Amino acid sequence: DAGKSGYDHYMLKEIHEQPTAIRECLRGRLNELTGRIELEELADIAFDGPVTFVACGTSYHAAMFGVSLLNRWGVPAQASLASEFTAETMPLTDDSLVVGVTQSGETADTMRALREANRAGATTLAVTNVVGSSAARETDHVLYIRAGPEIGVAATKTFASQQAALTMVAAALSDHRSRELIQSLRSIADAIQQVLDTSSAREVAHAYRDADAYFFIGRSLNYPVALEGALKLKEISYEHAEGFAAGELKHGPLALVGPNTAVFALVTGDGEEAEKTIGNVKEVEARGVPIVAVTDGQSDVERYADHVLEIPALEDVASSVVANVQLQLVSYWIANELGRSIDKPRHLAKSVTVE
Ligand code: G6P
Repeated sequence: DAGKSGYDHYMLKEIHEQPTAIRECLRGRLNELTGRIELEELADIAFDGPVTFVACGTSYHAAMFGVSLLNRWGVPAQASLASEFTAETMPLTDDSLVVGVTQSGETADTMRALREANRAGATTLAVTNVVGSSAARETDHVLYIRAGPEIGVAATKTFASQQAALTMVAAALSDHRSRELIQSLRSIADAIQQVLDTSSAREVAHAYRDADAYFFIGRSLNYPVALEGALKLKEISYEHAEGFAAGELKHGPLALVGPNTAVFALVTGDGEEAEKTIGNVKEVEARGVPIVAVTDGQSDVERYADHVLEIPALEDVASSVVANVQLQLVSYWIANELGRSIDKPRHLAKSVTVE
């Protein structure tokens, strides 16, 4: 118990370590003056054609985040679940770049995909937390996320650090230079701290602990966060939870919602994406479904929500990292109310070394 520093679970401790983890991840890598992100690990990386990410579980959601940013900054990219990756379905050449995102650096599916990429002659990059792991040793380049050891089986701080690290990877690979982006990355740690100090996730968890199912919706950078929110909840509470792209709700999942299901909507900013997601929220609300909005107060989503989980108003990269923290806390407190084995959920392992 000494390792838990007074917290009841490693998961809660690790959720609270996120401000420190993020600062560590960014340390020495941001150049305020030029707006450049300086990753010496990637200095001589050369590639042509789309960047392919391979990853599993939470790391796959982080990879989706990286793909969105690369595409936004003009570099074609795609993510493949490592277990689905084969060199035939994703043809690789000597000019290809394959990025393995893996906290442990030992996941069998991800290692197999990286080895296949190596054999195909592609350049490989590991984005990992564990120094000297298989992924770090067997790839051409390695970028450490520096989150520190994570004991809880459910990934928390390492996801936030992966989001920060992959934002930097995407900016470096696309040579995207922006002081706003650097400020945005710098704003994350304090904003997470603010959420940790003020979150009403525990009350929300109490209100919805008996729901039949939980749905998470988000768009753009908040889409992988919706998937991650659902994965976290199912992992540690054993409750039925699903994440959807907000726009997909009407193409099927809407049939599942009812008065005993809860919908968590990620709505940040005040742009078109927020507006469209609010449209989806209204469709749900009109059917008498309880809604929890995770929002920065920039839109009027609160009008349609039964509960609000607030985050500070930030640029969108930062807000999707910070919004996820509210969802981690909701999952934690629901699992806690249900008396689950939070740090070691049934049937799951921290690192899966079989394919
Ligand atoms: C296991 C863990 C997950 C993790 C996944 C990928 O399933 O329980 O939390 O996201 O493996 O792990 P990796 O170490 O490759 O990121």
